[in-house]
Amino acid sequence: MTRIWRFALAWVVCFVGSLALAQPIYKDPTQPVEKRVADLLSRMTLEEKLGQMTQIAVSKLMSDGWGLGPLKAELLERYLVQRGIGAVLSGGGMGPVPNTPRAWAEMTNAIQRVALEKGRLGIPSLYGVDAVHGHNNLVGATLYPHNLGLAATWNPALVEQVARRVGQELRATGTLWNFAPVADLGRDPRWGRFYETFGEDSLLAGSLVAATVRGLQATQVAATLKHFVGYGQPLGGTDRSPAFLAPRSLQEVWLPPFRAGLEAGALTVMANSGSVNGVPVHASRYLLTEVLRGQMGFKGVVISDWNDIDKLVNDHKVAATFADAVALSINAGVDVYMVPMEADRYLQTLKELVEAGRIPRARVDEAAGRVLWLKFQLGLFERPYVEVAEAEKIIEAQRTLAKQAALESITLLENAAFTLPLTNVRTLLVTGPAAADKTMQMGGWSIDWQGKEGAKAPGITLLEGLQKGAPKGVKVAYADPRDARALAATARAADAVVVALGEKPYAESEGNNLSGELPAEQYKLLRDLKALGKPIVLVLFAGRPLVFPPDLWLTPKAILMAYLPGSEAGSALADVLFGRYNPSGRLPFTWPRLFAQVPFTYDRYPDIYPKAEPLYPFGYGLSYTDFAYRLQAARATPNAVEVDVEVRNTGKRAGSDVVQLYTRFPPLGFLAPRERLVGFAKVNLEPGQARSIKLIAPLDRFALVPGDVFSLETPRVLPGRYVLRVGEQTVAVDLR
Ligand code: NOJ
Repeated sequence: MTRIWRFALAWVVCFVGSLALAQPIYKDPTQPVEKRVADLLSRMTLEEKLGQMTQIAVSKLMSDGWGLGPLKAELLERYLVQRGIGAVLSGGGMGPVPNTPRAWAEMTNAIQRVALEKGRLGIPSLYGVDAVHGHNNLVGATLYPHNLGLAATWNPALVEQVARRVGQELRATGTLWNFAPVADLGRDPRWGRFYETFGEDSLLAGSLVAATVRGLQATQVAATLKHFVGYGQPLGGTDRSPAFLAPRSLQEVWLPPFRAGLEAGALTVMANSGSVNGVPVHASRYLLTEVLRGQMGFKGVVISDWNDIDKLVNDHKVAATFADAVALSINAGVDVYMVPMEADRYLQTLKELVEAGRIPRARVDEAAGRVLWLKFQLGLFERPYVEVAEAEKIIEAQRTLAKQAALESITLLENAAFTLPLTNVRTLLVTGPAAADKTMQMGGWSIDWQGKEGAKAPGITLLEGLQKGAPKGVKVAYADPRDARALAATARAADAVVVALGEKPYAESEGNNLSGELPAEQYKLLRDLKALGKPIVLVLFAGRPLVFPPDLWLTPKAILMAYLPGSEAGSALADVLFGRYNPSGRLPFTWPRLFAQVPFTYDRYPDIYPKAEPLYPFGYGLSYTDFAYRLQAARATPNAVEVDVEVRNTGKRAGSDVVQLYTRFPPLGFLAPRERLVGFAKVNLEPGQARSIKLIAPLDRFALVPGDVFSLETPRVLPGRYVLRVGEQTVAVDLR
């Protein structure tokens, strides 16, 4: 061989060798994510791309149906390898058997192993759960207060810490996609999902949505803003019934919490299962693409809600066939179908639609590309597996944060004659259906979907908390609320009665309550106790405001709203009742007198005829001390209105106050809310202490949608004189 030939041969050998060795761009973590996505897409078949647009329930991999048990090799092979399905989920209550941290970690690892080792391109699988108040499907995980209670803390930093902790637990078990937080508003307490929201106000809710997103995603777990958009205002208050939203209220009220979550970097969004203004959101190109992507700039993944493309045919009846529904929905902007059971039919239909040109290939690349992007963002290609030991270690009874959250949520509604804290009580009677029933403190989404298994979660009940936490010399006696005789006998010896009432757990439509009433026997119990003549302290475990017949309004001398406080209910309530913690919760919703007033929010338009006042207004909550305000100055800066307020603790105990800043609008030619929350801050003060704080109200909180009835404009700040209010104090500021 001539020299030149030898040289050429060596060159060819080197070149081919380096080609074989070089890893593909998509596997190279030093490459930018966009390049990795493009590279991977370029290697994928149509079927593989469609697989990435599909999510199935984990039970499909166990029984090919609803049954739970060990994962089956042939089902893993069929769905993950042959069909290339890219994501799996646990619907409420679904998990490994047995339900332990180890089994969760082993389950997600096993799924991952098949996806990586047997899948042609080694694309990792992504596992989704509804961890809406802790890792709540997992037996052994601490349960935190549901969002409504978290909202009553008015403490975004605390909510962020809770979310971060939940994120760590999710990470450790390989469940990296959380279908939380709910960014819907709770503006109709009849609705069965009211407690999943952060309440009625878009600033408060938006701050807590953003805090949750930050906390979860700091642990590389994807947050999901759900359910985009308008899900919280079902007509008549029943879950998933149609919503009718004026474009003006969509822009001013419903979108802002989603926008806050997007600004915090939320990676995914779930579509609203219901309809808005006559169009199911799963079929709305306007909402899913023009508004969400165009106006709001969202770049991540839109996932459908559970089986909701099917609902376009069967429930909404807007599509004649499943194929029509799929085309409508995917073209409108749904990237991933959460199709728990019928993936084969979906994949087949999707493929036919693409081949027939009814879904553009570019749309498939866009949707599948977003899913891959998400997987890269989560580091799944680099860190696909979890350490079982780590999962076992982290899911242990770490309950300090849960207790802090419960403490800060508890809201004191009444306290006649300083009944609380219970300092002069020797014998305390504890009763009521919620006193020792763990399921009632946990609420829905606790171990299983409806929360019927919630007692399996770690937790301390009110009764246990009072028994353990009673000061020396205080006797805590329990009487079964169904045993009238025992009740009367125990009450005779008691100085006060703590009665725990509330709702049995529920989720979604099963939780609709059109009257806001408790079961009749709970009112009867209150009447019976009233007849015994002892001071009554009422503790409410509920996911919504409740109504009381007028004869019972003032029966309890003290009322504590505990919401659905989770694992640490008993210890937190004991601290509040016995005065070791000064309650600081403030209502994140308006508490109506009667549900006939609903929808009834503080930011409603002005009433022509004065309405009956609410029982308790938005933002309300008492303390064991008192606070006074002095509004010092207000000025407009280019992006905000800044207000200085002096807050003073005028009572005899240390305590926390939530300072709330509202604005009233000038006359502008169209209706404006009576008031709108524009800023808030939580302050701790020693007795007698005063502090000056600066409240910064972002300018966009002063924005309204101008124009006539069908105005499609986006909100802007209109010039005029705005009146700011803190407590009873007001000050005007001119905005140009
Ligand atoms: C239906 C619910 O509407 C949604 O909030 C949840 O994330 C999915 N099911 C998955 O469980």
